[in-house]
Amino acid sequence: MNGTFDRACDVIPGGVSSPVRAFRAVGGTPVFVTRAEGPYVWDENGRRYVDLVGSWGPALLGHAHPAVVAAVARAAQSGLSFGAPTVAEVELAEEVRRRVPACERVRFVSTGTEATMTAIRLARAATGRDLIVKFSGCYHGHSDALLAEAGSGVATLGRPGSAGVTEGAARDTVVVPYNDLSAVVEVFARLGDRIAAVITEAAPANMGVVPPEPGFNAGLRDLTRAHGAQLIADEVLTGFRVGPGGWWVREGIEPADLYTFGKVLGGGMPIAAVAGARAVMELLAPLGPVYQAGTLSGNPVATAAGLTTLRLADGEVYQAVDHASVRIRDGVSLALRAAGVVHRAQSAGSLFSFFLGVDGAVRTFADAQRQDSKLFARFFHAMLDEGVYLPPSGFEAWFVSATHDDDVCDEVIRAAEVAAHVAGASG
Ligand SMILES: Cc1ncc(COP(=O)(O)O)c(C=O)c1O
Repeated sequence: MNGTFDRACDVIPGGVSSPVRAFRAVGGTPVFVTRAEGPYVWDENGRRYVDLVGSWGPALLGHAHPAVVAAVARAAQSGLSFGAPTVAEVELAEEVRRRVPACERVRFVSTGTEATMTAIRLARAATGRDLIVKFSGCYHGHSDALLAEAGSGVATLGRPGSAGVTEGAARDTVVVPYNDLSAVVEVFARLGDRIAAVITEAAPANMGVVPPEPGFNAGLRDLTRAHGAQLIADEVLTGFRVGPGGWWVREGIEPADLYTFGKVLGGGMPIAAVAGARAVMELLAPLGPVYQAGTLSGNPVATAAGLTTLRLADGEVYQAVDHASVRIRDGVSLALRAAGVVHRAQSAGSLFSFFLGVDGAVRTFADAQRQDSKLFARFFHAMLDEGVYLPPSGFEAWFVSATHDDDVCDEVIRAAEVAAHVAGASG
């Protein structure tokens, strides 16, 4: 325990504003961050860490990029929130469409959770059907319908994945193993005329990184089209991070009906979006019957951060991020191997993660759950001791930025050489 964490726990449930920050998966007390710049964060004692969390994705350019901070300051000076449309919002929507042409219309919200929740409402309205198909291990935020977890069968009507979610909400969600197209075929054969949408992480990174197998996303496109269901590509994490247009564009997959974005879209400020084909997007109020609204939606300060971030995210930025991700992934993998730590490294574009204690391919959530969480916890704390702040769970991706240059990558790899021995030896 440390004093600040005790104080936090006395007023905030678990001491944190979002659960994974609490270090429950790795033990110990969370780092309270006071400052971040480039590839680094500093704790309340002034200790500096190389940051591989990157605010869970948004920090593509590195923390506190001077141009983004200046744009935010300028916007703030002009007023924090208007509750009226702005030109910058239009520019941000145009930038999204430029990068992902299938996004003919874009509606801004404040969080990824709102984006996926709205996408589902739109899909239900467009099809007049109730059921949603989601994949086990994919995370789409914390709305009721998407907090269903798999039942015991291969493709089951969901059970509530959280206390407080009704059986009814979970029953309208069918949970299917990831990367198992035949299970999706079977679900459509059984329930096809009741399925409103399939929602999938464009490339999953919330069960560790589990890339879609070749043909999986294209297969979802074919199946949904054949059965008159909507396909929702959740790019909250991958959008504008794994490439200028996100995963779907990068892989050249036939467009989805609806997309969700967040994280990099706001460059560290709360902005997210649901976007897609004009016909379905124009079901939204005020044009159509699907209600959706938000006091702070398209907030001008957040919009300024997002617009500046996207304008700066050019080919050079993506090259730098890709380069850093390969260097760190391969360097850490080598360090783990040298220390005799069995592991599997997996990537989807610049997203990557390690499954410690696993030596075969991780294709599904069940595979991901075979990892040795205690081994990861030891590795995590040894890395922290060496000055590297990893995501505090083996079920999370590691995030790099364009400021993770070769010297920073070397710092991470040197730390991993020490931490791999500590973790491997103390089993
Ligand atoms: C793929 C995906 N979708 C949706 C969300 C929810 O976004 P938010 O945390 O902004 O509500 C997340 C958050 O991590 C995510 O990774």
